[in-house]
Amino acid sequence: MLPSQWQGYLAIIALCAFKATCLDTFKAAVYEHAVIMPSESVRPLNREEALTLMNKNMDILEQAIISAAKQGAHIIVTPEYGISGLISDRLRIYPFLENIPHPQVNWIPCIDRYRFGSTPVQERLSCMARNNSIYVVANMADRKTCDPTVSKCPFNGYYQYNTNVVYDSEGKLVARYYKKYMLTKEVQFDSPLESELVTFNTTFGKFGILTGFDILFHDPAVILVETLKVDTIVLPVAWMNNLPYLYPAAFHAAWAVGMRVNLLVSNIHNDVNQMTGSGIYAPDSSKVYYIDMHSENGTLLVSQLDSHPKLLPPVNWSSYAKSIEPFSAKEEEFKSSILFDKFTFQELINDTGNYSVCQKTLCCYLSYKMSEKKANEVYVLGAFDGLHVAEEEYYIQVCTLLKCLTTMLETCGLPTENASTSFDMFSLSGTFDSQYVFPEMLLSGLQVAWEFEVLSDGRIVNKNGTSKPLLMVTLFGRQYQKTKPTSASIHLGFALLMKLITLIFVLYSAIW
Ligand SMILES: *[C@@H]1O[C@H](CO)[C@@H](O)[C@H](O)[C@H]1NC(C)=O
Ligand SMILES: *[C@@H]1O[C@H](CO)[C@@H](O)[C@H](O)[C@H]1NC(C)=O
Ligand SMILES: *[C@@H]1O[C@H](CO)[C@@H](O)[C@H](O)[C@H]1NC(C)=O
Ligand SMILES: *[C@@H]1O[C@H](CO)[C@@H](O)[C@H](O)[C@H]1NC(C)=O
Ligand SMILES: *[C@@H]1O[C@H](CO)[C@@H](O)[C@H](O)[C@H]1NC(C)=O
Ligand SMILES: *[C@@H]1O[C@H](CO)[C@@H](O)[C@H](O)[C@H]1NC(C)=O
Ligand SMILES: *[C@@H]1O[C@H](CO)[C@@H](O)[C@H](O)[C@H]1NC(C)=O
Repeated sequence: MLPSQWQGYLAIIALCAFKATCLDTFKAAVYEHAVIMPSESVRPLNREEALTLMNKNMDILEQAIISAAKQGAHIIVTPEYGISGLISDRLRIYPFLENIPHPQVNWIPCIDRYRFGSTPVQERLSCMARNNSIYVVANMADRKTCDPTVSKCPFNGYYQYNTNVVYDSEGKLVARYYKKYMLTKEVQFDSPLESELVTFNTTFGKFGILTGFDILFHDPAVILVETLKVDTIVLPVAWMNNLPYLYPAAFHAAWAVGMRVNLLVSNIHNDVNQMTGSGIYAPDSSKVYYIDMHSENGTLLVSQLDSHPKLLPPVNWSSYAKSIEPFSAKEEEFKSSILFDKFTFQELINDTGNYSVCQKTLCCYLSYKMSEKKANEVYVLGAFDGLHVAEEEYYIQVCTLLKCLTTMLETCGLPTENASTSFDMFSLSGTFDSQYVFPEMLLSGLQVAWEFEVLSDGRIVNKNGTSKPLLMVTLFGRQYQKTKPTSASIHLGFALLMKLITLIFVLYSAIW
């Protein structure tokens, strides 16, 4: 018996020798899909109607897959809900479900159509991969029967899973992944009891799979990167335009930098739900993204990536900030909310200065110089250290430099699109407790930009000025080591209130 490490090594050699030589670089494609939604009919669709709708979406995905393959892409990622459309009801989604077997069964649905009963969606996806010799990542829904008398089994006798499937370039099912972290509204799906660690090997690196908000949590996201050492993560999403620091391209690119991994994100394109923002992100400079609230159509992005991303030396995110003393407070601090979290802020009064703001154990430091301080614009430095409670609960530490919506301080943290103040330089840092910190930047017009340098001591700096006026610079830290409190230990009243506000917000804006 060989040690498992050697077995793995041989497996890689076999994979590469058998199919082709291993590739140093590969071409990745992501497709932002303007998904065709089910109509708001009174009754749920039947299976035939559901299939008609799914085929309409797959007709469009097929064009994208053909086009990606023609451009030489090795893999294409399509969005969460990209085949079914958004449906948030257990019974309504039922006709969209198929029984998806475990990849161990070694199955090419395109050439073995009826092995697992009627599975037309899987067959078509497999054929699209096989006919175009490209890996296809798609999101669909799985059902597994359970005994309704068992307490955990849902009332309709099925577990229903939000599922990513991956077909290799021969059409073989090589991975199946169940989404773990559901949003409040995703009641149509069950969360797997244990988070799944799903990877697949290719001649262009090792891949890990996540869906949507799974990216914000330790299991499985961090384990895939740190323990299983994947090179690239595929992430189908239905991600809202959550300004400021969960804005899709800004946050996803920052995550790739912070986690030091390639990340392929495919979002649906839907202006009613404010969903747009897909991209191909590498931990170094290569980043391609698409985000557009105003057009009606989807878009295909293709970009070359390193199969094994080149890693810069690790950053100590607190080293600089822990080495200096807080500056004496210049102005009165004030509180205002960003995405329902109460930040502590200081207003930047002059066109140049050094500021610090602390909340609990986090102190944020900013040095900056504006080209000219505009009377009609207010910028602030903010800090938040605590439990984020809207939609999902998780601990974060955030340092942010941002432009307020208006000159009224209570509007700081509300979404804003434009600015006219340019900065000649800035340097932002914080006393983060964890090494999971994601650096982000937004310029006027909601342009996602990477006009900064991350120093090894944890400062994010720009010495030469930005190409456009600045909207936001953020260091978003996740404290995975702090686990979600039990409901008894948190301030329940407050949490419930936030949930209620979120729910109202959900109903109001049809958030997903
Ligand atoms: C991928 O290859 C690694 C070795 O590098 C091996 O340990 C692992 O089991 C393989 N995973 C899959 C899903 O084939
Ligand atoms: C794949 O190719 C086969 C045979 O060439 C064809 O019958 C089938 O319709 C194609 N399917 C797709 C999804 O392209
Ligand atoms: C969007 O797609 C529709 C249907 O495919 C097409 O008719 C239209 O020209 C496209 N619009 C743009 C701006 O590409
Ligand atoms: C980061 O730097 C701080 C302060 O210099 C030090 O206390 C800490 O141990 C360092 N952390 C790591 C992970 O190296
Ligand atoms: C702003 O500049 C003025 C004039 O130089 C100075 O008196 C004041 O102390 C400065 N305020 C802050 C907060 O730095
Ligand atoms: C900010 O700090 C830097 C370095 O410590 C110093 O050179 C600069 O004069 C300070 N700026 C202001 C406006 O206090
Ligand atoms: C931001 O600027 C753009 C272009 O100048 C303009 O079209 C848009 O309406 C502005 N948005 C807001 C909210 O003012």
